[in-house]
Amino acid sequence: MCGIIGYTGKDQALQIVMRGLAALEYRGYDSCGLSAFSSDGDEITVIKKAGRLKVLSEALSTVQLNTRCAIGHTRWATHGAVTEENAHPHRVGKTVIVHNGIIENYKQIESELQCSFQGSTDTERACALIDRYYEQTHDGKQAIINACSQIEGSYAFLIMFEDEKDTIYATSRACPLIVGHGENGSCAISDISACRLDTYCRLNDGESARLTPDGISVYASDGHELKGRLLPTDVKTELPSKNGYPHFMLKEINEIPTVLRKTVDANTKDGLPFFKSIPDSVLKDMKRLTVIGCGTAYHAGLCAVHTARELSGIDGAAYIASEYRYSRPTVKKGDVVVFISQSGETADTLACIRMCRSLGAYTLGIINVPYSTASFECDGVIYTHAGFEIAVASTKAYVCQLAALYLLIFKASLLQNALSEKKVSEYTKILKNDVPENAYIDEEKRKTVYNIAKKHKDSENMFYIGRGIDSILCSEASLKLKEVSYIHSEAYPAGELKHGAISLITPDVSVFVIATDKKLIGKTENNMQEVSSRGGRLILLGDSEMKSCDIIPCNSLQGIFSPFAASPLFQLYAYYTALLRGCDPDMPRNLAKSVTVE
Ligand code: F6R
Repeated sequence: MCGIIGYTGKDQALQIVMRGLAALEYRGYDSCGLSAFSSDGDEITVIKKAGRLKVLSEALSTVQLNTRCAIGHTRWATHGAVTEENAHPHRVGKTVIVHNGIIENYKQIESELQCSFQGSTDTERACALIDRYYEQTHDGKQAIINACSQIEGSYAFLIMFEDEKDTIYATSRACPLIVGHGENGSCAISDISACRLDTYCRLNDGESARLTPDGISVYASDGHELKGRLLPTDVKTELPSKNGYPHFMLKEINEIPTVLRKTVDANTKDGLPFFKSIPDSVLKDMKRLTVIGCGTAYHAGLCAVHTARELSGIDGAAYIASEYRYSRPTVKKGDVVVFISQSGETADTLACIRMCRSLGAYTLGIINVPYSTASFECDGVIYTHAGFEIAVASTKAYVCQLAALYLLIFKASLLQNALSEKKVSEYTKILKNDVPENAYIDEEKRKTVYNIAKKHKDSENMFYIGRGIDSILCSEASLKLKEVSYIHSEAYPAGELKHGAISLITPDVSVFVIATDKKLIGKTENNMQEVSSRGGRLILLGDSEMKSCDIIPCNSLQGIFSPFAASPLFQLYAYYTALLRGCDPDMPRNLAKSVTVE
């Protein structure tokens, strides 16, 4: 969940590392730091702070640091509180380290080393272990190999040794780490978009690399050199920009119509779904739709399972990756399993991909970030084209995941003769034209959402209720609200409320009803009456005759397509609520964009 970057070369390392950290800050923003070789290469300076990157920038402005070699870190705390001592880099003896991941046996390492520590992180213990081996071997590469053979858990490490001037070592296990040439030097980064690279290499589990200003050597886990690993890359480094918006979250909600068009265009041909990397036979033989993901991605999966069943009778199930990976697997050889991930780096989802592959399943990724781990590990990939999603709360990527999943369902239904070509072409056309148009939030709607958010912002407890596909949307709408506004909220199928949770409805509670499904609105209205009779304050996203509620109109898209019109509106509601409560919608507390630890 942390972001790491290292640079050694001809250019000003500090600028490159700070720019990279700004691009990586979405991965964690509790604290940050960097270490740099002095210009004569004789010593390493470490500067670190609890807090966001701007605190580190301020600290740097007070020191003279002219360096061509530096490593940096932006932290999402796992072990140890958010303090300066626990911020990275850590230094023990001649070794300085930054780390993304979790060292599981750090307590054992600590007791074996019998030395004192400044902070309480697992990383500092790993640093001490590497330093102990460095004292013995005076060889950075060997010290790392020896230490890593003892370390249990996941890691991407960047390491400097005070005696090895302007040199950075990189090694990883079960955490993303890329090394490459760019910016007139050698770079190591957790995310390819954080640095301008001409060539790159993703380190596989156990591999390591030695970076100097002159080049990069990549090594296997036993230390022998692997030649020819660096490949050309054409990834465009686009530093995050708000383009005049006050927050990324708002910018990203507004981009939804555009990115929906891109996602549909990239995955269709001649008006029908088309996936370059997935053979037709895979979808023709897909008997069930099994979907795995976490958080918002899991919610997109739930929606897809509902749609596949409603539309063409394809049965299926969506699973939460962190649960699935430890449950008795039902997947068999030849099954198709769909993995949804914006980042392509979520640890639990990656574990499920590996598990399902080992059981002989075809793994199909719906992924937003190219060059991510999942994009390499899945047998076939459908890319969403949401572009960089910087705000921690997923908005545009979720809607693009839905579009990609719908295209997948249309294609499978066509190949399985569950839908005619005419029908699939008609649905694809709706996805291409009507859906982006109706995902656009005009000024009038924006104002309505803002005013309703203002009215309900002080409710400390909320329910989201709905029926059918709306009930599924409620789970995502509720997650969005709690993530960014810190309001406690729960999602319930509307008819289920009276089986228990209605005991919590009081005049202090707001109930957000999603009711886009015309067939079920009468039933949902009964549930709204039940809430209203107990004093609950109602908000309705949809269309209703009921007068005693605040209405966000949403009647443009019906049936399976309603999520595309409803989602941007409930996302905007969460955004405004956060704003009105003084929360930072882009970087909510305790969260990180990319969950690379279990
Ligand atoms: C919520 C959110 C998370 C992610 C989840 C999976 O707004 O963004 O719930 O959806 O952490 O992340 P990815 O899609 O990167 O696997």
